[in-house]
Amino acid sequence: MALRQTGGRVSPFLRRYLQSTSSSSCNRSLAATPAAAATSQRRTSERSFSSEARKTITATLFPGDGIGPEIATSVKEVFKAADVPIEWEEHYIDTKVDPRTGSFLTWESMESVRRNGIGLKGPMTTPIGKGHKSLNLTLRKELGLYANVRPCLSIPGYRTRYDGVDLVTIRENTEGEYSGLEHQVVSGVVESLKIITRQASKRVAEYAFHYAQQHGRKRVSAIHKANIMKKTDGLFLQCCREVAELYPDIVYEEVIIDNCCMMLVKNPALFDVLVMPNLYGDIISDLCAGLIGGLGLTPSGNIGENGLALMEAVHGTAPDIAGKNMANPTALLLSSVMMLQHLGLNEPAEQIHSSILKTIAEGKWRTGDLGGTATTTEYTKALIDNL
Ligand SMILES: NC(=O)c1ccc[n+]([C@@H]2O[C@H](COP(=O)([O-])OP(=O)(O)OC[C@H]3O[C@@H](n4cnc5c(N)ncnc54)[C@H](O)[C@@H]3O)[C@@H](O)[C@H]2O)c1
Repeated sequence: MALRQTGGRVSPFLRRYLQSTSSSSCNRSLAATPAAAATSQRRTSERSFSSEARKTITATLFPGDGIGPEIATSVKEVFKAADVPIEWEEHYIDTKVDPRTGSFLTWESMESVRRNGIGLKGPMTTPIGKGHKSLNLTLRKELGLYANVRPCLSIPGYRTRYDGVDLVTIRENTEGEYSGLEHQVVSGVVESLKIITRQASKRVAEYAFHYAQQHGRKRVSAIHKANIMKKTDGLFLQCCREVAELYPDIVYEEVIIDNCCMMLVKNPALFDVLVMPNLYGDIISDLCAGLIGGLGLTPSGNIGENGLALMEAVHGTAPDIAGKNMANPTALLLSSVMMLQHLGLNEPAEQIHSSILKTIAEGKWRTGDLGGTATTTEYTKALIDNL
């Protein structure tokens, strides 16, 4: 996907970042049927036209809960200031279970994402060890968001222990340990089912290799524990190997999850694109977030069939700081940049992204998680001033 340049040269960092979810091109070859591929291409061209003519595009917004509404407000304010042609269709978490989805997310909110094909999501609480079905799982399953893409790039101007981190984790998003199938066998014995299917493993492996090829990346590492989980992770690896054969120009390797953690912490440059089952992806991507400065800085995209995409920050609802105007909205803002790029709205994507980098690099208005004292509101205002 070609990046349009506005004014100055696009830095390699920004180029990589903005290209991180060019799933429109990926979906062309990933589409399950020619009809699906045609739908994907049509959607892309409609969006390009919309972008050129500055027609307004409707996108679904889930502010979520905890710090979600505060950081969603920040995104809305920045979009307004940058005159981004996006109209938000907002959906909130309900207080009662919708029997059609089996969760607090309404069927209408799912329909909104399906209709718009694009959305942005704030974090949503999942009670630990009890209570209702995870809202995040409901979204991923209902909408078939099969791959979670998390670009993890060092932020220039914000120093951590590691310089120049540049890797992408691609997590299978629909099954594995997150199938939600747990039961008690007898008192004191419980069972949790880890489901791995050929279909879902192949689909995410295809996405990872196609992604690597499209983005000029050289290596795909499949992360696993097949030495212990021979059948489940074994099948996942088998699917990765089959896809790897179709990409002789991309180096393929398999790394056991525990060794992967050690290698990442020692030298993140050992990796390029990492693809893995659901639980490993959840853990490794948070580890990667830590390499670049924390959860407040890490965006992600959930990718489904036919160009459907729901972008979201990697972090959770941060109950310890919710409602205190302390949250760092950067991760959600960077997710919104991914959303704009996905829509082909490269100009506002670049504008907002540059402003984020500039504001963080200036150092005056950093939020607490980055060692500063700025409130969410002050940081957002500084960012708008830098647009
Ligand atoms: N995608 C999602 O919606 C999602 C993801 C992870 C966790 N959760 C849910 O969020 C809730 C809380 O989870 P948790 O405490 O384990 O993780 P968390 O990400 O909410 O918080 C972990 C730590 O990081 C800090 N933090 C996170 N985001 C920040 C931000 N934007 N700015 C500044 N600091 C930030 C928090 O203050 C906290 O100290 C749980 O119910 C969990 O299920 C949701």
